[in-house]
Amino acid sequence: MTYVIDGDAVAADVRTDLAGCIDTLEGAGVTPGLATVLVGDDPASETYVSMKQRDCEELGMDGVHVALDADASPQELYEAIEKLNADPDVHGYLVQDPVPDHIDYREVLRRIDPAKDVDGFHPANVGRLVAGDPRFKPCTPHGVQKLLGAAGVDPEGEDVAIVGRSRIVGKPLANLLVQKAPGGNATVTVCHSRTTDLAAKTRAADVVVAAVGVPEMIDGSMLAEGVVVIDVGVNRVDAANEKGYELVGDVAFESASEKASAITPVPGGVGPMTRAMLLYNTVKAASEQEGVDVELP
Ligand code: GUN
Repeated sequence: MTYVIDGDAVAADVRTDLAGCIDTLEGAGVTPGLATVLVGDDPASETYVSMKQRDCEELGMDGVHVALDADASPQELYEAIEKLNADPDVHGYLVQDPVPDHIDYREVLRRIDPAKDVDGFHPANVGRLVAGDPRFKPCTPHGVQKLLGAAGVDPEGEDVAIVGRSRIVGKPLANLLVQKAPGGNATVTVCHSRTTDLAAKTRAADVVVAAVGVPEMIDGSMLAEGVVVIDVGVNRVDAANEKGYELVGDVAFESASEKASAITPVPGGVGPMTRAMLLYNTVKAASEQEGVDVELP
């Protein structure tokens, strides 16, 4: 039997634990505040930031949204960033990626106060992660690590193939999983578009993480019997329904399930964990900035 890892349930547990931390902060007169910044009107990004705002509301955190037009100048965005850096009620914020082509996202990241960088994308925070001293673990990789733990999968000594080398998922996840720390100690292979014989790499792995953004690219023929499969992909594909699209992962769920001992679904797998870990980082940021100790899950 293949175990379907329920990301909604694991995320709900994290949120319950965070609610306790938020109570502690409230007791000290602190409401954790998260701001989201969106430049333009990409429909998927709009959905993501509105879900992040709804999460804040549900947990009794302050949510602020800054919407800039698609043709906003880099200077306008930098000014919004400076305001958020200076705002004591905003403990953490993120600029939703992607930004329009005329804006250099790396320059945007450099301007974010690293203490408020709840994505963990500022170069200083990336450096700390690589050095094994993370301040904020990036949300999706952290969520994947928590999901593995909740499914009883200890990466220690396991061969993990990560398909995708993005700044948001592949690279930080590789760094988390190789760390000499609980939830780490794996042997990690990072595969990408120039990898030769991808299927040989994925078939040799005990754990396969797909984070490549290609619908159903990884199927059962590329997997070993008993593998654990984590599907980070969220791809919109045309469908004859009201919305005109449906969400599918980077993994062909049915055929992969025939091989996997455990697998995450899309939706309901990694997605809710990413959102939960953003709340986690915001609570951590509030606790550190306000000097109020909380017991993070
Ligand atoms: N776009 C897709 N995922 C993310 C994320 O985790 N953070 C930001 N800032 N943008 C994203």
